[in-house]
Amino acid sequence: MAASDLTSDALVLGIETSCDETAAAVVRGGRELVSSVVASQDDLHGRFGGVVPEIASRRHSEVITLVVREALEEARVGWSDLAAIAVTHGPGLVGSLLVGVAAAKGYAIAAGLPLVGVNHLEAHLVANFVHEPGQQAPAQELFPAVCLIVSGGHTDLILVEDLGQYRLIGWTRDDAAGEALDKAARVLGLGYPGGPAVDRAAQQGRADAFAFPRPVVPDSFDFSFSGLKTALLRTVEGLRTSRDGLPVADLAASFQEAVVDTLVRNTTAAATAYGARRVLLAGGVAANSRLRRKMSEWQRQTHIPVAFPPLRLCTDNAAMVAAAGFFKALRHGFDPLELDVFSSMPMAQKG
Ligand code: KG4
Ligand code: ZN
Repeated sequence: MAASDLTSDALVLGIETSCDETAAAVVRGGRELVSSVVASQDDLHGRFGGVVPEIASRRHSEVITLVVREALEEARVGWSDLAAIAVTHGPGLVGSLLVGVAAAKGYAIAAGLPLVGVNHLEAHLVANFVHEPGQQAPAQELFPAVCLIVSGGHTDLILVEDLGQYRLIGWTRDDAAGEALDKAARVLGLGYPGGPAVDRAAQQGRADAFAFPRPVVPDSFDFSFSGLKTALLRTVEGLRTSRDGLPVADLAASFQEAVVDTLVRNTTAAATAYGARRVLLAGGVAANSRLRRKMSEWQRQTHIPVAFPPLRLCTDNAAMVAAAGFFKALRHGFDPLELDVFSSMPMAQKG
């Protein structure tokens, strides 16, 4: 089948193994989620406080066939109902990516299906155009848009001129926002993964209890979170000498507020500067309740629409991969079975 034959009801199987989630999903026409299965490895990596690459690839290898089978069963489809297989081939942990890509190639050969390689970051962005069954599809054609991709590995501002036409207009000079939240959670003893734990703890705390900095990188839309992290460490060290316990909820709320304020400030400034007709949020940190609330407030003030993926499509999943693969195949065709993996894989040129 030629990629141009992909119709609006074509079913694509997505496979995602770039980090510590083994995921498979079926999406119709790049838009409608039919099934999505995510096997998280949080239990394995939690005691190390972060992802251990070799443990991650071994677990992917153990569960990938089960996860794919479950995604097909949940979708009530067989191999012959599918039009293509999409798989993340970067950026990510090479050993983990290889498991997903090798599995996708095996399935493609066995089922006689075409293959398309997907950039994980573009998949996060495309998650904004996927909807749950029975729900209305979000309007897709509102460009230029500014997209904040904010995850454990990335904090990128992307100017989206159209699907597939991206420019990187801001990035982090040091830590990613999710990484900063994960580290904060460790310092505060909130466990792993840290972002959701900080989000929960912050709901019991006061965001103005501690005055953390909102780091600025002058003359750019870039981010820097390392100074903020140091500020938290110093504050916590200072408080530990006191006889009262750590005010964890207040610290979590104040730290989260500084991260969110910084994200909102740069994203909205970039949206204004580039005349964005819409703002898209993507990646694990786009699940953050405070970020969602503050961006919604900005939407009310400016009437510039802000989109977030459905919550379960913010963190790593394969529905976003299936959707991104559908649209990429329409633009560029399918990929050969020689498809390689890449630890670093920018989705856009700087500038
Ligand atoms: O996109 P993702 O699942 O994986 C990467 O591609 O990195 O993002 C994971 C990141 C982690 O840092 C996690 O702590 C963060 O997203 N995260 C959150 C929330 N849920 C996940 N951060 C803040 N609030 C949340 N509710
Ligand atoms: Zn991700």
